Amino acid sequence: MSSSGWPASIIVAGIRGQASAHRLDARRPGPYRSAALEPEPTTQDMPRVLYADHDYSDIDLERALFEGAGVELFAAQCRTEEEVAAAASGCVGILSQYAPVGEKVIAAVPTLGIVSRIGAGYDNVDTAACERHGVWVANSPDYGIGEVATHALALALALVRNVVAYHRDIQAGEWHYLSSGPLRRASEMTLGIIGLGRIGKRMAHVSRNVFRRIAAFDPYLIDGDFPAYVERARELPGLLAASDVVSIHAPLTEETRGMIDAKALAQMRSGSFLVNTARGAIVDIGDLLAALDSGILGGAGLDVLPVEPVPAGHRLLGHPKVILTPHAAFFSVQSEVDLRRKAARNIVTWLATGRPDYVVVRGTRKPHP
Ligand code: NAI
Repeated sequence: MSSSGWPASIIVAGIRGQASAHRLDARRPGPYRSAALEPEPTTQDMPRVLYADHDYSDIDLERALFEGAGVELFAAQCRTEEEVAAAASGCVGILSQYAPVGEKVIAAVPTLGIVSRIGAGYDNVDTAACERHGVWVANSPDYGIGEVATHALALALALVRNVVAYHRDIQAGEWHYLSSGPLRRASEMTLGIIGLGRIGKRMAHVSRNVFRRIAAFDPYLIDGDFPAYVERARELPGLLAASDVVSIHAPLTEETRGMIDAKALAQMRSGSFLVNTARGAIVDIGDLLAALDSGILGGAGLDVLPVEPVPAGHRLLGHPKVILTPHAAFFSVQSEVDLRRKAARNIVTWLATGRPDYVVVRGTRKPHP
């Protein structure tokens, strides 16, 4: 128990890193309720939702949305499944940014009907377990497509044009266009995209006037899903061998985990560049460092890492051929608002209609059993 009287799991970080206890004022009815026509709702009547974790300075946006829908919101900062399971007691929905949700949570929270991920990826949610138990899984897939694609292109161009190395050289007192070696013409290069979904397609679109050719590998699409200006690679090795810049836009799955390892890197063109804005665990970082050191890779631009944040003292830090950004590809002020609103609205829509706006796992559990 905290000094506020709330269990520690229901303490929410009001300001980054600063704990303060708050929850919705359950006595205030939602705006559409008419006291004259309906009995005043009690907290027992109101569906409860757990905000399992977040790193926002406040959650006023979500609070207003849930309050308007007559939903009681509990906020926590859970890191483990055990913490989620304890905090979600009696809840029908869970909103999760990074907190893991799987079998343990489902077993401990029989009232649970839906898990909504604040994000496009949902690898912190055990979708197989949710499917087995009929729990809906929803995400927020289209809030920042343009942001991620332009971020990937920014990393690609920073590598191709040696932007970060020039900046570093100037800071060190060297002003010369040859300070970081020869550059190649981008308009003679091929961009290879792994995963031609929403973001991969946008990456192809925003890059088409930069590179000579755009190619993509995506075994799950039909030919008709490939825009006319994107060449289809049937196999990953073919794409890797043909590309000067490879940009990863596939989800993290059992198939893609470690997909870019020593064997794959050996298939890449000498001096080529790798950009990863998808998920860190798709690339084997040890093998990547070896490929950078051997010269197979000319550089890497990484927004995502297997362990985030990058551990202090890691070889990636300060590596002259590596550009890092802090899992920021999704971010703009506008995209963050979209992201949070869509993730929260999934639960509100499910409560109203039995189905969220964005379905990852089609559940069977109903909002009002
Ligand atoms: P999407 O689901 O629209 O597209 C993913 C594509 O990858 C699909 O077309 C799928 O067929 C393909 N794919 C699946 N397995 C593959 C494989 N083994 N090889 C090649 N292609 C494969 O997803 P979207 O919205 O384009 O997002 C892609 C990924 O970007 C997400 O899964 C997420 O992890 C990551 N992401 C990263 C963000 C960041 O801030 N860095 C923000 C948003 C998403």
